[in-house]
Amino acid sequence: MTHEFTASMISPDDDFDGAPLLRREVTLESGHGDVASAELHATALGVFEAFLGGRPVGDDEVLSPGWSSYEWRLRYRSYDVTDLITESTVLGFALGNGWYRGRLGFLGSRRVYGDELGLLAELRITYADGHVQTVGTDESWQAGPSAVTANDLYDGQTIDARRRDDSWLRPGAALPGWTGVHTLSFDQQRLTGYVGPVTRRQEVVRAIAVSTSPSGRTLVDFGQNLVGWVRCTVQGEAGSVITIRHAEVLEHGELGTRPLRTAKATDRFVLSGAVDRFEPTKTFHGFRYVEVDGWPGELTTDSLEAVVVHSDLDRTGDFECSDDLLNQLHRNVVWGLRGNFVDVPTDCPQRDERLGWTGDIAVFAPTAAFLYDVADFLGDWLMDLDAEQAAADGQIPFVIPDPLKYDKSGSPIGEHDTPALWGDSAAWVPWALWQAYGDRDALDRHFPAMAAHARHVKSLLSPNDLWDTGFQFGDWLDPQAPPDNPFQAQADNGVVATACYFRTLAIVTEAAQLLGRDGDAAEFGALRDRVGSAFRDHYVSADGTVKSDCQTVYALAIVFGLLPDELRTKAGDRLAELAAANDYRIGTGFAGTPFVLDALSSTGHLDAAYLLLLEPDCPSWLYPVTMGATTVWERWDSMLPDGTINPGEMTSFNHYALGAVADWMHRTIGGIAPLEPGYGRVLVAPRPGDGLSWARASLQTRGGRVSTQWRREDAGVQLSVDVPHGMTAVVRMPGMDDIELGGGQHTIDC
Ligand code: BGC
Repeated sequence: MTHEFTASMISPDDDFDGAPLLRREVTLESGHGDVASAELHATALGVFEAFLGGRPVGDDEVLSPGWSSYEWRLRYRSYDVTDLITESTVLGFALGNGWYRGRLGFLGSRRVYGDELGLLAELRITYADGHVQTVGTDESWQAGPSAVTANDLYDGQTIDARRRDDSWLRPGAALPGWTGVHTLSFDQQRLTGYVGPVTRRQEVVRAIAVSTSPSGRTLVDFGQNLVGWVRCTVQGEAGSVITIRHAEVLEHGELGTRPLRTAKATDRFVLSGAVDRFEPTKTFHGFRYVEVDGWPGELTTDSLEAVVVHSDLDRTGDFECSDDLLNQLHRNVVWGLRGNFVDVPTDCPQRDERLGWTGDIAVFAPTAAFLYDVADFLGDWLMDLDAEQAAADGQIPFVIPDPLKYDKSGSPIGEHDTPALWGDSAAWVPWALWQAYGDRDALDRHFPAMAAHARHVKSLLSPNDLWDTGFQFGDWLDPQAPPDNPFQAQADNGVVATACYFRTLAIVTEAAQLLGRDGDAAEFGALRDRVGSAFRDHYVSADGTVKSDCQTVYALAIVFGLLPDELRTKAGDRLAELAAANDYRIGTGFAGTPFVLDALSSTGHLDAAYLLLLEPDCPSWLYPVTMGATTVWERWDSMLPDGTINPGEMTSFNHYALGAVADWMHRTIGGIAPLEPGYGRVLVAPRPGDGLSWARASLQTRGGRVSTQWRREDAGVQLSVDVPHGMTAVVRMPGMDDIELGGGQHTIDC
């Protein structure tokens, strides 16, 4: 539904501590019969919560309108509010700073997009006779203070219950201290409907323990590293303050806040003396633990509850197997997605960063697209990518939306040029969506950005067709890189960048062919071949050794199809050798991690792939699990074996990038992969490995739910497959011919 606003963007005459309330009384017009329907359209410069007739509008919706590249896209919400309309009522909004005006990024910036909060809203009431009454934001609105006296996404929120006055939502309320509003100049061309889901409260998590730290502080453990906030109902002396500090981990028994860097992640609740209910909805925190100060009386596990907040996505994929550590790793991946899909796919949800880092989603998109239906969520983000890329002459910013193109005072400082993998998100994310959902129109929509990126990188190549110039993140966070230098990878930057570009060209060529863009297909196909030859000529020796001879370079060369068969086999053998020589501990950073298991399992080294996956010693996927992790960590060793936090300057405990391995688990252990984009035909090819006695996976595809389950039996492996009607599954098991299955339940002895 698209809506043309006739209303104006308004701003309160007083800022009211950055959390103003705005209201307008609405009286139904007479003479037109009953109300047939009513709809509300709204957006804000800042974040808003809407109220009509004293009740919240939007089912548990928070932090709307989220964060988009506001310079070009501001999304508005549309609601059916027919049931909330009464004869005489109040339309009200509570605003907060949000991403628009709060702190953003690690440069210490705030007010990146503007100085004044704004509200644009329009209520359209349609009567029985067809008459439409429109109430829009204009200078007749009133603005006043809320109980919120400070709010920031990074730093937290302060609520002073003594200031709470709910009468603002009642018609005819006397409102001392309220002021008027003024209109803001605003280009309505920027307005666009929501493509992705809104952010909502999703779940309430109960505390599991209250304890006292060695230094005497009161700590509450929610048992799960999550994203959202803590809410409570409490009574105590008027004016006394409860302070809640959040952190993901404890370090030596105390709240581990160093990883938050400058984010204060602190909420304060000032008591009124009566029974107060506090819920800080204008911030969010990444935390498992809170430290509580000033609680009146005894604090128990029932005193506080954690509210989990993220984009409202449908869960589609599941995985379970006989190994508990692996199951916990998978749960951690799911929670990593939940915590970082708060309107924008972010790197992390807790420190002074929380940005849409492109490289992180480039590697995680296939995993995300299995676990949840992220077609619209990432489709929306890709629209921001288009807008940012167009404004940056074809370069892909490090982060999208991109506040890093401004300095602290908001002045433009230009873009860094596109690095590999991060920039390749322009092609890899749409490709992951195409594989998962098979939506040709979406691929077509994203093709111009894919092609523009491929052409831009061409201009960065050396004369010998290698991408060995310019700034690169490379194989970021290689486990051997020192804590204070995550760039220092074993893999050569040119090898990583050229390989990633080759993959991008292969994707863009295939997309062009699919879309019937023959000219583009010829252009990119020729370039792909040239870049592939350059890679082999310069980086691969006759014996199959790839320059820098480490796990990542073999993973990329094998999986991206850069090697002819004979060298591919040799590269697989060398990779298996390197993995064994490293005692099956992982040796890859952001670039190699999503591909290393595929490289092994596709070159005859399934056993080595399982050994790498199931290795519990640091660095490995399971090491964090053995340390009690409930989300995927940014570093292989965000927490060191002795329980101290990694000394590096960036140490998040909730980063999904290294969780990209779940994609391999889904396809290779669970055995569900698309044989055609969108799973019109599904490949069922689980490859049971040593160490597992059973596994199961399921996926809600566009064509229905497909599920697989295998179990080791004395005589071999028994495989059960559920195929939805109308879908074909091809079962491919070692030593057997392919079996084609139609809809129904099937059991196969392998
Ligand atoms: C982020 C990463 C990101 C990286 C760039 C970090 O600060 O947290 O996940 O991709 O910077 O290399």
